[in-house]
Amino acid sequence: MDIYRDLARPLIFRFTDPEAAHAWSLHTLGKIAEGSLAKSLDPIFKYTHPLLQTKLWGLDFANPLGVAAGFDKNAEAVLAWEHLGFGLTEVGTVTRHAQPGNPQPRLFRLPEDKAVINRMGFNNDGADKLLEQLKDRKTGIPLGINLGKSKITPLEEASVDYLYSFQKLYDFGDYFVVNVSSPNTPGLRELQQSDRLAEILAVLSEANPIQKPLLIKIAPDLSWEAIDDVLLLCERFKLAGIIATNTTIARDGLKTSMNETGGLSGKPLRLRSTEVIAHIYKTTQGRLPIVGVGGIFSGEDAWDKIIHGASLLQTYTGWIYEGPWIVSRILKFLVSKLEQEGFKNLQEAVGSGVSS
Ligand SMILES: Cc1cc2nc3c(=O)[nH]c(=O)nc-3n(C[C@H](O)[C@H](O)[C@H](O)COP(=O)(O)O)c2cc1C
Repeated sequence: MDIYRDLARPLIFRFTDPEAAHAWSLHTLGKIAEGSLAKSLDPIFKYTHPLLQTKLWGLDFANPLGVAAGFDKNAEAVLAWEHLGFGLTEVGTVTRHAQPGNPQPRLFRLPEDKAVINRMGFNNDGADKLLEQLKDRKTGIPLGINLGKSKITPLEEASVDYLYSFQKLYDFGDYFVVNVSSPNTPGLRELQQSDRLAEILAVLSEANPIQKPLLIKIAPDLSWEAIDDVLLLCERFKLAGIIATNTTIARDGLKTSMNETGGLSGKPLRLRSTEVIAHIYKTTQGRLPIVGVGGIFSGEDAWDKIIHGASLLQTYTGWIYEGPWIVSRILKFLVSKLEQEGFKNLQEAVGSGVSS
């Protein structure tokens, strides 16, 4: 029996509002991580193995699985994630201005589909507060900071908005992500168009004195041509990598009938996200590191993303459905797969399932 899936999840899903449950768990994790109890989580959740170690962008990752952006927007539980076994964490999306996000309800569970729809709308405390939070907290695992545009900032001034947060938080992130792919900020995804994106990337590249890894996060709903345009920009601005993918506005094949707008995540996103990863890997001939995210619930899902081209992975919805043991479960599976297939390290397996 799985304590989370069989006991805790049914109770949580039945008796709690999704956003309240999320806020409670973040708050609790934050409190645990700040206290002396944090280390006691290690033997329960952490799984280490030399085969899982990855070096990328000059950073050492004990394992390739991270917590995806949006889970810990304000870095409230930023010290908890390493004790829950993750190999990297990404805070944000943070915007220049603090903002409340969209009216509630804005987060919906679709248990039959093992999915979530959200239209949070970048609710966050803003870059200045995030700085305060990160200043006294040094994580033991690489930390990414995911940057977005404030709702009140017009699209034409987006680069100034991104730049403000980038400069403010520059010393605290090991890597930075330009998020232009959330469906919940009006017009944001238009920034994925070449000219607008080029402006943002130009401004941030100029303000990157020690060449911190800069990545872009894309939507799964882009056409192949639009993705290829983004890839050209990645090359032009020497971006460190790409995160594929954000949530989808598609609703294909859902069992649940629900008319809520927002981004869909979880199992229904898995195949599309992997398809996008494989396309990027093939087009760039494996030269651009990919962070694979979308519908990872199991070791098999994680392995599939790796062999289709992902060097690092992230999960959000899988963690909600499978609980905290998902991390060690996935990592153990990856080790057994690497051993079985005779790979000497994780990097060797990346893209091994993509035909050239
Ligand atoms: C409630 C919720 C809020 C999210 N907020 C953000 C966000 O602020 N920034 C971002 O880049 N992605 C955000 N995401 C997208 C996730 O980071 C991830 O890309 C997406 O959910 C797909 O992964 P999953 O299927 O493992 O959830 C959010 C996802 C959910 C479910």
